[in-house]
Amino acid sequence: MSAEHVARYLELADEYPRRAEGESVLLDHVPRDARRILDLGAGDGRLLAMLRIDRPQMHGVALDLSELMLEAARERFAGDERIELVRHDLAEPLPAIGRFDAVVSSMAIHHLEHERKRSLYGEIFDVLEPGGVFANFEHVASPTHRLHLAFYAAIGEPLEHEDPSDRLLDVESQLAWLREAGFDDVDCYWKWLEMALLIGVKPAQVGQGPTSEP
Ligand SMILES: C[S@@+](CC[C@H](N)C(=O)[O-])C[C@H]1O[C@@H](n2cnc3c(N)ncnc32)[C@H](O)[C@@H]1O
Repeated sequence: MSAEHVARYLELADEYPRRAEGESVLLDHVPRDARRILDLGAGDGRLLAMLRIDRPQMHGVALDLSELMLEAARERFAGDERIELVRHDLAEPLPAIGRFDAVVSSMAIHHLEHERKRSLYGEIFDVLEPGGVFANFEHVASPTHRLHLAFYAAIGEPLEHEDPSDRLLDVESQLAWLREAGFDDVDCYWKWLEMALLIGVKPAQVGQGPTSEP
């Protein structure tokens, strides 16, 4: 993201219609007793700030590439030792930062090339503790150009403001890749136009295989 897109995003972050609704579903699916939570492409720490409200014991790791975003997160979390900031490019394999009870992400992974999204899902599986949850609140591709235009109209942004670093991908491919990585209970838990919440749970006993029965 360019500096201009970072500034514009931070200005608009609270203005996306229905965003709070999707985020509240995400918050419902991250256990209250999750101790270690990793946020990929954490930006200014919006999601970790929401998560820490009901999780006083949590230790959060905010990972992002952008120094501008990390500076905003540093300001937000000043004096809070529960939140650690890590500068890292998600195009590269995840750094060795331990294991997590939950990995979350919001409107970030869509900046990666599709093959990197796929390999990242495998790495997320590996850093999760058994029973851990991955919740990705994501900007996904519309199935048609008409719906793409409808999304931009609905958020009140002209199409010319579209971020050229976006690599939008449909929901179905991403759900398939989560299953391929080994996640269970994979589904789209919430969706509105191009905003979707994709969740998968690492089986409590790896090798247990996904549950297919109702
Ligand atoms: C639209 S912002 C979302 C920020 C935050 N998660 C939120 O929901 O407000 C996308 C974020 O992804 C980060 N990002 C984009 N590409 C990245 C990469 N290759 N590695 C790490 N972070 C990246 C950007 O710096 C930015 O903070």
